[in-house]
Order: sequence, then structure tokens, then C-alpha cells
Amino acid sequence: MKPVLLHRIDSQNFEEMCRRGGRVIRCGGLVAFPTETVYGLGADALNPIAVDKIFRAKSRPSDNPLIVHVSDIKEAECITTNISRLAYELMDAFWPGPLTLILRRGGVVPDVTTCGLDTVAVRMPAHPVALALIREAGVPIAAPSANTSGKPSPTAAEHVLDDLAGRVDMILDGGMTEVGVESTVVDVTHDPPSLLRPGGIGIERLKEVIGDLKTEREVTGVPRSPGMKYTHYAPEAGVVLVKGESVVKTIQRLIGTYEGFGRRVGLILCQETAESFEAGERMLVFGKRGDPASIARNLFHSMRLLDRREVDVIIVDGSFDQKDVGLAVMNRLEKAASKVVAVKW
Ligand code: TXA
Ligand code: MG
Repeated sequence: MKPVLLHRIDSQNFEEMCRRGGRVIRCGGLVAFPTETVYGLGADALNPIAVDKIFRAKSRPSDNPLIVHVSDIKEAECITTNISRLAYELMDAFWPGPLTLILRRGGVVPDVTTCGLDTVAVRMPAHPVALALIREAGVPIAAPSANTSGKPSPTAAEHVLDDLAGRVDMILDGGMTEVGVESTVVDVTHDPPSLLRPGGIGIERLKEVIGDLKTEREVTGVPRSPGMKYTHYAPEAGVVLVKGESVVKTIQRLIGTYEGFGRRVGLILCQETAESFEAGERMLVFGKRGDPASIARNLFHSMRLLDRREVDVIIVDGSFDQKDVGLAVMNRLEKAASKVVAVKW
């Protein structure tokens, strides 16, 4: 086992830590770092041996390509070809930020990074530590979310430690991440572009810039982003998602049923729903129905917290607003859920 190197970043040590992290990346090592969405597990995107370490550390399926993180548009141009006018418009509007663009892959990017695809996913993150790390490394950084494959994405450095202790050379601890779910992935290799994964930037905002946007199923009928076909974001406990507006009675009934079978039940509820339930350490509130940003920020953390509190089943309240980042939250919950219960209005 390697010694774990978790470094809390503050204004005093910011530059020194990012410099050290950059050196580790340049030497072919793995550095976990905060982005505004979730923590990433980074390696030199142009070094196939380093990138291969990411797949092994996460037990990631070898056909699931990585996002390459850049610190400016020039760096994106170096690893791609034929960037369209539309792609530049999206970069201007949303970079740095939680938007990943699928672009034509340039010759310098090794096969292992893109899993042999002729496209490459590129994003410029907004977190100062991420940007400084990329600059110090002097190379683009390939980074998936820094969790074991299939688990909820890490929104705090402790989550990275829980999943990857001994498999990462350095963890830069920038506190809780701000957005809480991963970036929106948009394929801009054709016109109109298509949405491959909902995320931190809502569809409404994208459409303001590009007008038309196809969702993946409209394009092909099947998910086109390789990662979307795997079970994802799942805590140890089974997840039961209750969708609808008046969810209270259904959740009460489900609690009765599961407890009747001797199961320990955890709850992740909207504030309005929580008022009808007794507070306790197995009941968490992830935000108000009308505030999807707060719900997104607390989603993965709440799942991991309930796993620690040893519940068998987590009932999640899906009565929140699905506008903006709310759509991404619902997407992650549907993937995590072993059962979805829809309440009739
Ligand atoms: O916010 C985020 O996007 C975080 C932070 C660390 O930047 N990263 C992240 O990476 O979520 P990951 O590996 O967990 O998800 C990347 C997604 C996967 O669904 C993958 O299949 C898709 O992007 N992807 C990567 N390259 C692709 C490509 N060339 N074509 C289509 N989809 C691609
Ligand atoms: Mg991931």
C-alpha cells in the first residue's frame, strides 16, 4: 500500500501544493483533485501508461473513455481537430465550467484515453485548484470522477480516500464541491449537437446559446456515451426512488413494508416532505423542492452518509423540480435505483 497523501489546500499552501501535484502528474502519477462538479482522478492525458493507472485504480471498464481537462482553449485546440463555430460558441459561453464537449480527436491523444474512439471529451473546469494543477502539470489531465466505478461520485476529499486509499499518489483537498453532480456532456461533432449526459449546465441554458439540441435517444434510440450504459452512482444500500408530487403516503407505506421485513431504512427527502416524518440520523434532507442546485450539491454525499449509518434500503424523494440541474439529479437517481415507484398525481 502506498502512503496516503491528503493535503488540505488553503491560501498559504495553494501554489506549493498545485506545483507538487503538477510534478506528480508529469512524472506519470495519479492526483485526485477538486473540480466545481466532483473530485477527479487525474493523470497525464498524453501518457498511456499513466492513463492506464486510472482504469486500474477505479476498476473502470476499459471501453469507457475519459474526459481530458484543459486550462485554456489553446490547449483544447492542441488535442483536437476541426473545432466547429458552434463548439467555440459553447466554450465562450460556459468555459471554465461544468460543460464537456465531444470533439474530433487529435493525433497526440493516445488510444487508451479515448478507448480508441476518433473523438475526445474535453472540458475546462472552473475550480481554481483544478486550473492551477493543469497549468503546473503543463499537460492536459485525463480525469474521471475519483470514485470506484459504480459508486456515487466523490464530492469531498474524504470520499476519495474511502474509495481509493492506497491507489492514488496525492489527494488535493479543496473541501466540498459546489455543483455536486458531473458536467453536462454535449457532442458537437455534428449539427445540431446532441446531449449525451445531463449535468451541471441545464439544457435550458445550452439552448439559449445553440438553439437546437438533440437528446441521445432522439438521435439513435440508444445511449451513445459509453459510460451511460453502466450501473452508476449506487451506494451499498438498495435505492428506491419515489417519483411524483404527493410522495408522503407512498414513502410511509414503503417504510412500513421494508421495516416489516426487518430492513433498516434510510431516507433522503426534500424539506417539504421531511416535515411529515420524524427526524433522526437516518433521515437526511437534501434541499427544497424548488432548489435543484442544493439537491444536486447534497445528493452523493447523502448516499455515502447513509451507507456509513448502515441502512439496507435508501428511499429517495423524487418530488423536486427537474429544471436546470434537477434533470441531472433525476438521471443519476434513475441509474442508482434498483426500484422506481411512480406516484399517480
Ligand atoms: O464533471 C465531470 O465531468 C467529472 C469531473 C472530474 O470533470 N468527470 C466525470 O468523468 O464525470 P467520468 O469519467 O465519470 O464521465 C465521463 C463521461 C462518461 O459517461 C464517458 O463515457 C463520456 O463522458 N465520454 C468520454 N469520452 C467520450 C467520447 N469520446 N464520446 C462520448 N462520450 C464520452
Ligand atoms: Mg464517473
